[in-house]
Amino acid sequence: MDRHLSSEALEGGDAARAASGPESRRGGALALRPLPEDAIIVIPLRNAVLFPGLIAPVTVGRASSVLAAQEAVRREAKVGFLLQRDPSQDEVRPHDLRQVGTAGRIVRYVAAGEGAHHLAVQGESRFRVLEFLEGWPFMVASIAWVPEATAGGTNIEARFLQLKEKAAEAIELLPNAPGELAGVVQAMDSPGALADMVANLLDVKAAEKQALLEAFDLEQRLDKVLALLAARVEVLRISKEIGDKTRKEFDERQREHVLREQKRQIEKELGEAEDTASEIAELRKSVEAAGMPEETLKHARKEMKRLERMGEQSGEASMLRTWLEWTAELPWKAEPQKAIDIASARKVLDEDHYGLEKVKRRILEYLAVRKLNPEGKSPILCFVGPPGVGKTSLGQSIARATDRKFQRVALGGTHDEAEIRGHRRTYIGSLPGNIIQAIRRAGSRAGVLMLDEIDKLGAGGFHGDPSSALLEVLDPEQNSKFRDNYLGVDFDLSRVMFIATANVLDTIPGPLRDRMEVIHLPGYTAEEKLEIAKKYLVKRQLETNGLKPGQTTISDAAIGAIIADYTREAGVRNLEREIGAVLRSAAMKIAEGAATPIVIDARDLHGILGARKFESEVAQRTSVPGVATGLAWTPVGGDILFIEASRVPGSGKLILTGQLGDVMKESAQAALTLAKNTTGEALDKVDLHVHVPAGATPKDGPSAGVAMYLAIVSLLSGKPVRSDVAMTGEISLRGLVLPIGGVKEKVLAALRAGITTVMLPKRNEKDLEDVPASAKEKLEFVFLERVEQAVETAVGKSEAARRQ
Ligand SMILES: Nc1ncnc2c1ncn2[C@@H]1O[C@H](COP(=O)(O)OP(=O)(O)O)[C@@H](O)[C@H]1O
Ligand SMILES: [Mg+2]
Repeated sequence: MDRHLSSEALEGGDAARAASGPESRRGGALALRPLPEDAIIVIPLRNAVLFPGLIAPVTVGRASSVLAAQEAVRREAKVGFLLQRDPSQDEVRPHDLRQVGTAGRIVRYVAAGEGAHHLAVQGESRFRVLEFLEGWPFMVASIAWVPEATAGGTNIEARFLQLKEKAAEAIELLPNAPGELAGVVQAMDSPGALADMVANLLDVKAAEKQALLEAFDLEQRLDKVLALLAARVEVLRISKEIGDKTRKEFDERQREHVLREQKRQIEKELGEAEDTASEIAELRKSVEAAGMPEETLKHARKEMKRLERMGEQSGEASMLRTWLEWTAELPWKAEPQKAIDIASARKVLDEDHYGLEKVKRRILEYLAVRKLNPEGKSPILCFVGPPGVGKTSLGQSIARATDRKFQRVALGGTHDEAEIRGHRRTYIGSLPGNIIQAIRRAGSRAGVLMLDEIDKLGAGGFHGDPSSALLEVLDPEQNSKFRDNYLGVDFDLSRVMFIATANVLDTIPGPLRDRMEVIHLPGYTAEEKLEIAKKYLVKRQLETNGLKPGQTTISDAAIGAIIADYTREAGVRNLEREIGAVLRSAAMKIAEGAATPIVIDARDLHGILGARKFESEVAQRTSVPGVATGLAWTPVGGDILFIEASRVPGSGKLILTGQLGDVMKESAQAALTLAKNTTGEALDKVDLHVHVPAGATPKDGPSAGVAMYLAIVSLLSGKPVRSDVAMTGEISLRGLVLPIGGVKEKVLAALRAGITTVMLPKRNEKDLEDVPASAKEKLEFVFLERVEQAVETAVGKSEAARRQ
């Protein structure tokens, strides 16, 4: 009896010691009540999701979790793992957890020091929490198991095959995937299990994994996994391409270096080269004449001496010579600056670009400030807008207007700090970074240097952060002493006029953005495009295609038709391309002996450019109830998108498709709740399906709330939304319409799409100031304070009244 008791006590003591928390000692294994039939122990996970059928490592540290794990091991019981909504939260309560998880068995338990305990868990099956129970020193919940989806059919089978294929592709691209993984994937025969396995391996946020866990419907789960995997494969493929390309460039540089050396040797053999002595004398002369600052010159002279002492053949000598050549060729001298003449700058800007009044004024102000205070620390101009609106060409124009040299550094896809700052001289074939290279090409250190597409700068990785190198380049406190790794001496960038361009602002790293004065170029109206085409694009394309003015003309109607039917863009890039195509066909005819001048009119376009590329989708789409036209902002300008609502038998659920972002999903949910309240419609026997089809538009952002609401109301009332109305606006659950961004881009997109009435949140009315008057004239605006106004305008008054 005694012995029995002491052994029990000992056991309790053990558990308590291992659990290492005061509350566990109080609890102790002895005191724990058994769990009810349908209940399991629950362990919260901060940042990981367990899937059925898979073994995953789990580390537990919180005292209650450690105790829960130990208790589960002791009872050989299943444990349910639930994801925390907020990973940083230490003390979690039931409502801090997601309600669906995977239960599994702890197959290994290793207690490490420092309170961390490592588990290997074999996931078994999905469950849903019914209720959390009190009375244990850890979390316990009664649950319902979620049966594994086993549906078959061709829909599933097709997706299953596709998933296998994509998974094989991903495995191929992964640098260190275990060899047998491909075989395992091919051998799997359960679609659900494969989806779970891929979900488990995917490198995505825990919240996304959780969404996969909660996708009980097999078809949906497969679709979601496929979409995530496809995106992943794309990233893997691109990063592999970049890796290959860098390697290739590096090899080429090395090869060039070796060839140059060989050439030098051959010339010497043939007696064609200058002899070494005079070559070195030459180099010394250019070093002396380069105008380097004192310190740098001293350093260069020392290197010069080193080169003279060195054997002719040595690899180091050739590296040293290249360095000296580079250094001597840099524009060290500060050439006298021509004063900026504001009046003639204005003239140049007007010559090069049509319209853009506000932008030109900002540029001139900027130049005026520079003129008054040339050594001052002016901010860096940054042009932000969709492709083809003239960002790069404005930079060239500024250079011309101020009589400075222009150079452009393309930053898109720059991942490596060394691309900005150069490789150290110790590599064979290493070179300065692209800033110093651009300065040498310009032959001036006071030119205009365009940092093009600064928003595409790659994130810093293994090889250092390119944006922090750029920050140094742009920092007036530091850039008079910019140090390129290859040069190894300071170079003064303080007189360079930096101009940046970007499609979007929000991918530019914050500290960089803070340095910049942003000027927006949102895009052109059809009238503006027509003027740009007549005054600039046609002229340029005539020249490019070897036509004399007068040999060919394009009528205004033809240009208008190209703008409306063959392009859909905020800028004029495709417009210029299509005009080029039209002129090439004319050039062809002239070459074949046709009489000039050739006049191209709108009716000729079909024969040259083919069928119209863009039809007005709007009228066609919205002739049925349940479709509303929304307006979206995208990095390439605004666009319209159609929101479609339909009704299927069900149980009051909301089904969302079209790869919507999280914010948009919340908007849809809000729209549905609001529609239920305002229409009083009972929807418990149907599921509402909301779909956003427009393929290429990134569908995030809350600004589709009004359109979703209207699509649902239109569906429920059986009345179509007016096809000439487009809308944007966020909604609150009480029916207020809240403001959104990107008004100008959205309004221009509506106009392009042939919309006549635009509904905007009342609080965005002031943003119309930025919209050109010519666009405003053609549109009617309705400013919304409440969603009922939207119904009144776009579905019909009687409807709104009846539904109130
Ligand atoms: N307002 C304008 N007036 C005249 N030409 C323009 C105008 N806007 C754009 N362009 C022309 O359109 C073309 C595309 O411009 P670009 O500077 O490459 O655009 P971005 O850099 O913004 O993508 C260029 O040939 C440019 O000269
Ligand atoms: Mg550009």
